Amino acid sequence: FPVDRIRNFCIIAHIDHGKSTLADRLLEMTGAIAKTEKNKQVLDKLQVERERGITVKAQTASLFYNHEGQRYLLNLIDTPGHVDFSYEVSRSISACQGVLLIVDANQGIQAQTVANFYLAFEAQLTIIPVINKIDLKNADPERVESQIEKVFDIPREECIRISAKLGTNVDKVLQAVVNRIPPPIASTEDPFKALVFDSNFDHYRGVVANIAVFGGRVKKGDKIVSAHLGKAYEVNELGLLRPDEHPTQKLFAGQVGYIIAGMKDVKEAQIGDTLYLHEQPVEALPGFKPAKAMVFAGMYPMDQSEYTGLRSAIERLTLNDSSVAVQRDSSLALGAGWRLGFLGLLHMEVFNQRLEQEYNASVIVTAPTVPYKAVLSSAKLIKNRRAVQKNMVYIDDQRVMMKYLFPLNEIVVDFYDLLKSLSSGYASFDYENAGYQAADLIKMDILLNGRPVEELTTVVHRERAYSTGKAMCERLKDSIPRQMFEIAIQAAIGSKVIARETIKAYRKNVLAKCYGGDITRKMKLLKKQAEGKKKMRRIGNVEVPKDAFISVLKRK
Ligand code: GTP
Repeated sequence: FPVDRIRNFCIIAHIDHGKSTLADRLLEMTGAIAKTEKNKQVLDKLQVERERGITVKAQTASLFYNHEGQRYLLNLIDTPGHVDFSYEVSRSISACQGVLLIVDANQGIQAQTVANFYLAFEAQLTIIPVINKIDLKNADPERVESQIEKVFDIPREECIRISAKLGTNVDKVLQAVVNRIPPPIASTEDPFKALVFDSNFDHYRGVVANIAVFGGRVKKGDKIVSAHLGKAYEVNELGLLRPDEHPTQKLFAGQVGYIIAGMKDVKEAQIGDTLYLHEQPVEALPGFKPAKAMVFAGMYPMDQSEYTGLRSAIERLTLNDSSVAVQRDSSLALGAGWRLGFLGLLHMEVFNQRLEQEYNASVIVTAPTVPYKAVLSSAKLIKNRRAVQKNMVYIDDQRVMMKYLFPLNEIVVDFYDLLKSLSSGYASFDYENAGYQAADLIKMDILLNGRPVEELTTVVHRERAYSTGKAMCERLKDSIPRQMFEIAIQAAIGSKVIARETIKAYRKNVLAKCYGGDITRKMKLLKKQAEGKKKMRRIGNVEVPKDAFISVLKRK
């Protein structure tokens, strides 16, 4: 296929502005899929994507489009909109020369519109602004065009007004892709060079790598090398994604497709890696910054007997999502498990849901935490730092864009939900890592009758210590059964107690009811008590059921 008739582009947008719907229309109009009710959001293949109505993994589709008597190959990469998945967006962008920037005609520019715009702008891609949902009663494309002009400095004349739902003007979008986006700069005469921009794992065939061919050609049987590992492989299968795999004989410069080459582990097809022909080594492409985990949580099997099963489920799922950081961990209360790092809360929820749905695993997920760097010195004198405003820009008379510096811990837990409810859903939010900052953090212990419970020790901000400590004590009180003596539950910073709850002593013993009664009943009760004890952990003289730890550690 001649390179000058290839266009590589992706669709970027704020969540729910209609990327997947537009992708459906583009697939239909180019005949890649049939136009039926059933074919909705065809690129969202995962169950979790369909249930939540969001895109999690970027997907690729090659479309053939006839324009002014010429046949074009359009490679479309659908990307997720949520902040947590923006690493997928940056990867997709590196395989493209242009983007369709979708903006909802009613909502206008939102946080991820801005974040995604800059990803494309910095990569110097052609940006085609598309105003979607013009069929909505309260659509205001005029206003959105003014916003685009003001915030992105793109002339309003370049905007295309569409309804992805009804198909209005979608043909204009295809024409703009062909007319405005440049073809890739790649020559079939050069040595073969391809960028791995995504990869996933198939149980039967091993790694399926999605590649963008930057130069040369590759065919079945070729011996290729991964620049990252320096390992050689034989190409078993290759082809286009339309959007299902469509084997071909060769892949050429400028094309986007998939390749299967006997790699048994996704680590062998690292995202960002360069592939070349064994006999024609080339310089590796720059690759990507590895995804950086921002939110950490413990994951444990409900029951230790499920440990092995859960381990293999986590291994397999991380092969498909290499942005999850995995470390083995163990907790006295919850047994052997893992500490996993995610790019954000939604990422963590989606991972958990995929474990349950795709691998049938049942897990305990602990409350998420963010990474801290601790300096062991007495100088934590540094004054308390809250959000610091960095700048503020009016998008129009109704919307303002504000930038703040926040401690990550303040935003991972409930910030997003709070922001949404305070603004009745109007505000949107995005973040990027601004590095570590000194903060007034302290270590808080939980004591049961004076004995510290190691697994419940936490790091909290000094200002939050009292409320966090109190909540933990209350939850423990509700889940530790009464015992033969009084139990004091305390939260303490060093030797200073900051919160306390008390569980009153239990007066009767289990046998009291059957005084003089029959022996089998007595044995049954004792046995029941013994069984209950197995699930208990002893802290000093206090028996603590596993559930009590779970209720404190688990995410609510
Ligand atoms: P993520 O992949 O989760 O980022 O969302 P998305 O941007 O792909 O949005 P999606 O295509 O899933 O559309 C979100 C919602 O908007 C769905 O309920 C669509 O039916 C609706 N929608 C999309 N396009 C239009 C349109 O042109 N008009 C109207 N009225 N609704 C639309």
